[in-house]
Amino acid sequence: MSVPVIAIDGPSGSGKGTIARRVAAALGFHLLDSGALYRLTALAASRRGVALDDVEALADIARSLDVRFGADDAGNEQVFLEGDDVSLAIRTEEAGAGASTVAALEPVRAALLELQHAFRKPPGLVADGRDMGTQVFPEAGLKVFLTASAEERARRRHKQLKDKGIDVSLAALSRDIEDRDRRDTQRMVAPLRPADDARILDSSGLSIEAVTNTVLDWVGET
Ligand code: C5P
Repeated sequence: MSVPVIAIDGPSGSGKGTIARRVAAALGFHLLDSGALYRLTALAASRRGVALDDVEALADIARSLDVRFGADDAGNEQVFLEGDDVSLAIRTEEAGAGASTVAALEPVRAALLELQHAFRKPPGLVADGRDMGTQVFPEAGLKVFLTASAEERARRRHKQLKDKGIDVSLAALSRDIEDRDRRDTQRMVAPLRPADDARILDSSGLSIEAVTNTVLDWVGET
């Protein structure tokens, strides 16, 4: 039997990460935060002084990413790049902007494909990103496309960053999110869009519990 996959895609700040984590925990499934891989590629490039338009060098970095995901004693997510804890460094808006720049390059996306497929292990996988349902796991048993109003997404992101001690103005954040949305939806390769068979869920005004439960109900129907 093939290992089940639940794909959760959507724009920045739609709550995908939080919902994917909750759904994975509720089902005892593995979790793939695919955005982290693009953020790590951009970060590794900046550490090595590789320009964000050096396509071949970026694809090499993506192909050989030395990454490990974990959690600290309090259960907070930890991400290690080449052994260094980069959990905070990859969450800055700068890393997000770098990620969306390298993510527009086809060779980088191709280089990360195998790594993403390797996360599919029993008993199942919840995969969070922009193209989980359209490109990486087109055969996923459930595809969710999570949206929320632009204002709500900026507000959520602001709170999330503040909680991590990262200080950024709401206005600057709204502009960053709009720029990133534009790049992600308009790029030629794997643009952000719902798969034809995705179920759309607008989380504006809904609690985390309500959205998680809706997705779990849908899992039950598959
Ligand atoms: O989800 P997150 O904000 O961490 O993603 C950072 C960037 O990585 C996105 O803006 C997008 O450009 C890119 N990305 C992608 N495909 C994915 C996940 C993320 O292109 N599956």
